Amino acid sequence: MSLKGKKIVLGVTASIAAYKAAHLVRLLVKSGAEVQVIMTQAATNFITPLTLSTLSKNPVFVDFQKDKTGEWNNHVALGLWADMLLIAPASANTIAKMANGFCDNLLLATYLSARCPVYLCPAMDLDMLVHPSTYANLAKLRQYGNQIIESGEGELASGLFGKGRMAEPEEIVAWLASQYTAKSLPLQGKKALITAGATREYIDPVRFISNNSSGKMGYAIAESLAEEGAMVTLVSGKTSLSMHHENVQMVAVETAEQMYWATINATPSNDIIIHCAAVADYTPKEMAMQKIKKKENELFIELVKTKDIAKEVGNLLMPHQFHVGFALETNDEVKNASEKLLRKKFDMIILNSLQDKGAGFEHDTNKITIIDKENNITYFPLKSKNELAKDIVNVIISKIK
Ligand code: C5P
Repeated sequence: MSLKGKKIVLGVTASIAAYKAAHLVRLLVKSGAEVQVIMTQAATNFITPLTLSTLSKNPVFVDFQKDKTGEWNNHVALGLWADMLLIAPASANTIAKMANGFCDNLLLATYLSARCPVYLCPAMDLDMLVHPSTYANLAKLRQYGNQIIESGEGELASGLFGKGRMAEPEEIVAWLASQYTAKSLPLQGKKALITAGATREYIDPVRFISNNSSGKMGYAIAESLAEEGAMVTLVSGKTSLSMHHENVQMVAVETAEQMYWATINATPSNDIIIHCAAVADYTPKEMAMQKIKKKENELFIELVKTKDIAKEVGNLLMPHQFHVGFALETNDEVKNASEKLLRKKFDMIILNSLQDKGAGFEHDTNKITIIDKENNITYFPLKSKNELAKDIVNVIISKIK
């Protein structure tokens, strides 16, 4: 993977992570890119222009004017020159200004002039990153078509621990290179989250309430999304299946509560969210800490409702996210599924009916109907779950284009 011949404008803003910009410039140059650096004035307090100009072998731009000679640094020309604009680190301040069209420094003027893809690597303290205003600003930038290279988790400069560290320079370069080297697959650069399998609701340490879901449909969809270029997070209940695709990251869970938290935490950073898991609707009010002994003739277990993951995700959705659910119905199938689509704010729902032979739980085949938000209904014949996974992913691709 290389960035050979790519013209990159690197914007460096005032975050402690600016020290990583030196290493980033070196790696970009090493991978064949031509790099021009623009710094905000405040960023020069963290790392000197001299360091970055030496490493990039180009002058570094900070102000609109060159050394007060009246000659100007042409932001339009820089924006047009670039094959990509990378802002790393992107501070909360610069993100807020970009989201709102501010133009009070050379970097912002270049951003507004650039016609090339824009990539941002946010770097800030964890609370700043999750503040609703930063969250909304990043959502806006995504809507503008800018791509966010997510921050990592770890120890932050404040001493706090959490998400907010700028992605490591190696990751950034690999990510950028992958944008150019891979044949452009339809889901390249997209992130997808899918739940699969059955949950287990423990009664005591060895007994649980579960269902027959094999996870086959969800795993097949996860693989199909990855084949089309998406980076996939598969939140899976216990299944007998394994997943080895390099683009699929597994998050193993057991209970509905664990699946809820894994899904909710991953929701903000995903573009496509699919709920394929058969989540228990009820869970024991209390789990016995010891194995329950056989004593009375009758045993009553009090159950309470679990959280509806899909519904909660539906309430958190940002406009660019595509939300997909499943419905397994036994009667009034289309009507029930359409109501579920509205209730859980799905963009489309995949219905499988228990009345169809060979469809649903445990089978290798399935028969589905897809209903979308506009109430278009598409019927698919009985097929293998692998074939249907491809059909489902193709429908998603056609809708998010
Ligand atoms: O309401 P029902 O369980 O039939 O809805 C099915 C859809 O909602 C599926 O997509 C399923 O994965 C999802 N679901 C969920 N959390 C629950 C129950 C269902 O995400 N607790």
